[in-house]
Amino acid sequence: MKDVTLQNDQWSADNYNTHASFVPQLGNTILSMLNAQSHERILDVGCGSGELTNDLASQCAQVVGIDASPDMINKANRIRRYDNTTYHVVDGQAIPSWLTENQIPTFDAVFSNAALHWMKNDPEGVIKGMHKALKSGGRIAVEFGGFMNVGEVHTALIQALNRRGLDGKAYSPWFFPSDIHYRHLLEKHGFNVQQIDLIPRPTRLDTDVAGWIETFGFTFLNALPTDRDRQQMIQEIVEQLRPSYQREDGAWYVMYVRLRAVAIKT
Ligand code: BEZ
Repeated sequence: MKDVTLQNDQWSADNYNTHASFVPQLGNTILSMLNAQSHERILDVGCGSGELTNDLASQCAQVVGIDASPDMINKANRIRRYDNTTYHVVDGQAIPSWLTENQIPTFDAVFSNAALHWMKNDPEGVIKGMHKALKSGGRIAVEFGGFMNVGEVHTALIQALNRRGLDGKAYSPWFFPSDIHYRHLLEKHGFNVQQIDLIPRPTRLDTDVAGWIETFGFTFLNALPTDRDRQQMIQEIVEQLRPSYQREDGAWYVMYVRLRAVAIKT
């Protein structure tokens, strides 16, 4: 059995917990839309550091969590609360057949929170993999960044690289589809969509937009040669966003747009 691991893991579970503890905390809506049952076996795609996976594990018979980042999977193993949970370093774009038993799909449901927008290289591969893992009639309940998600920071990062003579858009790691496009992809690959919505959600950051960029904007930052260049770019963006995204009391907000979908394998 071979795990598909992330080359050059850019994720730091500690950094993530400092600057983005709201991510698992805000995952409860999609968790309740999943409506996990006590007899079910559930696949958590892009489980991150496993906080929400622990909640899921308390509701069902068995959970398998996968994430491309070894650092996240290490953390998830360290904070695991229930014996019914196993973790693997696996990219959601390449869900392997060994996750099923003897090639027979064994999952009643697939769950995913705040992860699928990172799987930009092959979003259709993700959908095909979820379909392959599910029993007939199984369901997915997924939430991730949709059209216009974190638009102001995303645009600012692209433009900052453009100003430096680079093709900023080429450095974006994110796939933020509209509900119309994602419905089309799900239907194309054998899902019957029960519900799909785009929901704007102003989100208070744990720290500030500099912390957000350091945690999530690494592909843009790595385009620059020195730490000084990177800090300069961050400060430029902080000042650009401050007038609209820092509240009177100093708290920073970013406008997240969630795409939430529930669909059944046909
Ligand atoms: C999100 O959860 O929508 C998100 C998080 C980090 C970077 C981009 C999007």
